[in-house]
Amino acid sequence: MIDAGTQLYGIIGNPVRHSLSPVFHNGALRRLGLNGVYLAFEVTHLAEAVQGIRGLGIRGVSVTIPYKTEVIPFLDQLEEVAAKIQAVNTIANEKGKLIGYNTDWRGALEALEEKVDLTDKRVFLLGAGGAARAIAFGLKERGCRVTIFNRSGEKADALAKELGFVHRPLSELGKPDADVVVNATSVGMHPTGEQSPFPPEALRQGMTVMDIVYRPLRTRLLRDAEERGCRTIDGLAMLARQGAAQIEIWTGKRPDLEEIKRDLRRALEAEASR
Ligand code: ATR
Repeated sequence: MIDAGTQLYGIIGNPVRHSLSPVFHNGALRRLGLNGVYLAFEVTHLAEAVQGIRGLGIRGVSVTIPYKTEVIPFLDQLEEVAAKIQAVNTIANEKGKLIGYNTDWRGALEALEEKVDLTDKRVFLLGAGGAARAIAFGLKERGCRVTIFNRSGEKADALAKELGFVHRPLSELGKPDADVVVNATSVGMHPTGEQSPFPPEALRQGMTVMDIVYRPLRTRLLRDAEERGCRTIDGLAMLARQGAAQIEIWTGKRPDLEEIKRDLRRALEAEASR
């Protein structure tokens, strides 16, 4: 029941109409028995939105495209990793003090580590945008040997230099071997769902393949990988985990991951059948 004690949470971004965050956050808050509501805010004026968080005492906010970096100067404090990545996907309002966190890198690492021990692994990271950046910092943390592949070589070069990784042109994808392949590009997402960012002939048994794309859930890349006997990790794994980590930051309680994934799957199935 919504009453005078209800805490408000939400997501700021633009666009946010198709965000799945309200679906699983509200479900998780309810199951934890917390008196909270999570809404989507499509924001055009970021400074005013952040003032609103302060002014209304909004307890916790997710931040998505295009504000993950832009929001930083408006905050009072940054967690160390968020400062390194220079991206915030989570704001906690601690008695008026706004603290920025990044749970994307943790979500990606947890999703990977459920299926594979990352120690000493050779990883191909496809992409050099915001999501790839967060994942790259996680892989660095685990000491992986990472090769970055990206359409824009300049962005790949900059990220590789920053973290001490190497980068290669897309044309070399699949030539050398990898233990783990992570797609952090938008290739394979609706409406170009039949494309894969990775040549299927370079997939082999024993590899672990993770895709951050979740529309569709079974991307071409993941279907190719399954056919060739790879372990696969779909886009909901990271999404659910970064969200669970947000709830933990805001409430101190860890929600049930499987329930979050079920909410997400249901929402995607409903979307697909429309
Ligand atoms: P996000 O925050 O989701 O990572 P982003 O920062 O815009 O979004 O990054 C999108 C990533 O997908 C980039 O690595 C982009 O490559 P460029 O840096 O060359 O733009 C990659 N990408 C998007 N569309 C692509 C396509 N058609 N082919 C190859 N890479 C693509």
